[in-house]
Amino acid sequence: MRNLVFFAIVRVKNGRKHSFFVSSGMENGNFVVCNKKVIEMMEGKRAIVMGATSGIGLEVAKVLSERGWLVGIAGRRQERLQQIQRENPNIQATQCIDVTLKDAVEGLQCLIGKMGGMDLYFHSSGIGYQNPSLDSDKELLTVRTNAEGFTRMVDVAWKYFAEQDREGHIAVISSIAGTKGLGAAPAYSSTKRYVSHYLECLTQLCYIRGLRNLYIHDIRPGFVRTALLTDGGNYPVQLDPEKVARQIVRGIERNRSIITLDWKYRILVFFWRIIPRWVWVRMKIVSK
Ligand SMILES: NC(=O)c1ccc[n+]([C@@H]2O[C@H](COP(=O)([O-])OP(=O)(O)OC[C@H]3O[C@@H](n4cnc5c(N)ncnc54)[C@H](OP(=O)(O)O)[C@@H]3O)[C@@H](O)[C@H]2O)c1
Repeated sequence: MRNLVFFAIVRVKNGRKHSFFVSSGMENGNFVVCNKKVIEMMEGKRAIVMGATSGIGLEVAKVLSERGWLVGIAGRRQERLQQIQRENPNIQATQCIDVTLKDAVEGLQCLIGKMGGMDLYFHSSGIGYQNPSLDSDKELLTVRTNAEGFTRMVDVAWKYFAEQDREGHIAVISSIAGTKGLGAAPAYSSTKRYVSHYLECLTQLCYIRGLRNLYIHDIRPGFVRTALLTDGGNYPVQLDPEKVARQIVRGIERNRSIITLDWKYRILVFFWRIIPRWVWVRMKIVSK
């Protein structure tokens, strides 16, 4: 027995029009509510995930493919990329890309070509170290990967979407580590601040250029149980990467511009922000 009621909602948020077509009713005794926008996004949309060989990027690629997206994945480890593709049929294409190298631009363009286009660019590539001794190699590699590599890739994605006349999404994982300067991980904390700031700039640039269909998402997780945290440090309240991936995808589908995960870290960040600088810099925050 199917009894469906349809109604449309048009909402204006930040000057952008969001159209929802909601169907609701009873189906086999269960109440069904479907958001047309969510359904549309799930059908044959193409996503590229940079840094999908492990951790959060891998989980996001899996969640997207599970939800019907066609997914292209990239990272430096070729064999790992091929293994992931074999295990996940909705992963359409792979590309070996090191974001620190100039030819990463051609790599991303090639992957977009293999996918036949792109609706979501998801950037998860990143490294990080606890580095209180300021080992220069670690600091500079972090800057090259998290700041330079991020800028190189996101600029390609932004220009691609700017030329299109339809909806597009750029989502990047920064971190709550960019909230305030972390003395034990200077390059990591600073590059995450840079990422958030850059994404804010791109969001404003969308308004300047009148790109109302291009959505920029800044994803700021707390500690997540991935390879990044296996340096022997003490990282409390670690989140499950699969749950984090589901929350990220939900946030993107709902066009959230800043996605801080999870609720515990949202509370932490709220109080963290209001600590005065002169107090914060005197606090001895270390993880070991
Ligand atoms: N885990 C956390 O607690 C946490 C918290 C907040 C934010 N984040 C951020 O989340 C993102 C993903 O990290 P994760 O926790 O999922 O760690 P992860 O498992 O180590 O994943 C990092 C990913 O980045 C890729 N990558 C690293 N360097 C690259 C390069 N030069 N070129 C292309 N890809 C590169 C890696 O692939 P290849 O090695 O194959 O290149 C891998 O797929 C990072 O930006 C991280 O800073 C993590």
